[in-house]
This record gives sequence, structure tokens and C-alpha cells, in this order.
Amino acid sequence: MASANDTRQMPKDAADQNFDYMFKLLIIGNSSVGKTSFLFRYADDSFTSDFVSTVGIDFKVKTVYRNEKRVKLQIWDTAGQERYRTITTAYYRGAMGFLLMYDISNQESFNAVQDWATQIKTYSWDNAQVILVGNKCDLEDDRVIPTEDGKRLADELGLEFFEASAKDNINVKQVFERLVDIICEKMNESLDASSGMNSTNHKNTALNETPASQSSSCSC
Ligand code: GTP
Ligand code: MG
Repeated sequence: MASANDTRQMPKDAADQNFDYMFKLLIIGNSSVGKTSFLFRYADDSFTSDFVSTVGIDFKVKTVYRNEKRVKLQIWDTAGQERYRTITTAYYRGAMGFLLMYDISNQESFNAVQDWATQIKTYSWDNAQVILVGNKCDLEDDRVIPTEDGKRLADELGLEFFEASAKDNINVKQVFERLVDIICEKMNESLDASSGMNSTNHKNTALNETPASQSSSCSC
């Protein structure tokens, strides 16, 4: 299993220390909703229709630029199968953002969203940002979850919402960019709040994983 701390095994991008922020993100949801496909589309711009169910957990690293900041994303792809739940929930801690995914052509995956949201509440940091993603929107003929139902559930759970397709590359980049932006917004709010409370202690928040030598204010 990959370890994010073991730089010897990492590709060049993963070991690159030249960044302003590092955000740990997790992709969760039922098996076969397309979590691995979504990550491969985003990180490698590739897609395969073969289904190789993820064993445990894996991650990829991608660096993005948002408002002149280099943001290194460590994106963890979790196994949806129930039997890996103990392993995968152990990775929720410290995650700043989640993509909670269902498949618009699979009722069961949509029914499970509430449970996944509860898992996030139980195991993750309170301020973690979450986007609900209805994947496989290319499968319009097989759709069983209307877009409105996805939106409504997202509203009820207080989450942002996108429909997307890893296969046709619809909204993949947009979902990650939005997640980065809402994490940055939250970070700025925390910085504002902490500088209001204590003007001498505005350099650190729980969200800030910037190397000590670099700026800690995010203008995303
Ligand atoms: P686990 O690892 O078991 O949790 O599953 P997963 O959520 O990672 O699913 P995975 O990405 O392996 O995809 C499951 C199947 O759905 C594969 O056959 C993919 O090719 C297919 N798939 C993934 N995304 C899409 C999509 O956007 N559209 C279509 N039509 N198929 C997709
Ligand atoms: Mg997978």
C-alpha cells in the first residue's frame, strides 16, 4: 500500500516540495461509481472501461495553480467495498476535502450517499469541505437519478453538487477546482477569525500545511 510519507517510492511530482499549500483530498462512495476512473481522468487524462475494483486505498498527486498559488493535491482514492471500510475511514482524518460520489445510473449508490456523509461527519475534521458528485452523466439512457434529486439531496446535506463523467471528461477538472476554491475560502475565513481573536497569532490554522519558509495567507 502506498504511503504518502515515503518519498522514495513517489513519482517526481509527489516528491516536489515547491508548493504554497498542500491539500489532502479523499474520493469516497460505493464500489463501481467511478472513483478511480475520475482520479485517472483528472491526474493522467486517461480512461478505461475495464473495472478493476480498488483494494484498500491509493493516491495520486497533482499540482494546480489557483490565483498565483501552487497547490499540491494529494488525492486519495478509496475502495468502495464494505470490507475495506476500517482501512479507508482511517484516512479521513486530516482530509480537507471530499468528493462524495454516486453513479446516476445506480439507485443503490445514491441511497448510500447519506451513510457516506455520516462517515465523513464521524471520522473527519469538522471543517472538511465536501462536494457531491453524480458521476456517469454520459449514461443518459440508463439514468435513474434525476439531476433534481441529486441537487435536492446536496442541499439537504449542505453540500455543493455537480454531475460529471469520467468517461467523457465532463466537469472533472471543474469539480477539483471548485473543491480547492472552497477549501481556500474556508481557510481565509479561519485566518480572518483567528486574526480577529488574536492579532499576534494569525500565521497558523489547522488548514495551513505550508512549509514554514513560505507565505501562509491564501488569496484564492
Ligand atoms: P471501487 O474501486 O470498487 O470502489 O470502484 P470505483 O468507484 O473506483 O469504480 P471504477 O472507477 O473502477 O469504475 C467502475 C466502472 O465504471 C468501470 O468499468 C469504469 O470504466 C466505469 N466508469 C467510470 N466512470 C464512468 C463514467 O463516467 N461513465 C461511464 N459510462 N462509465 C464509467
Ligand atoms: Mg476504485
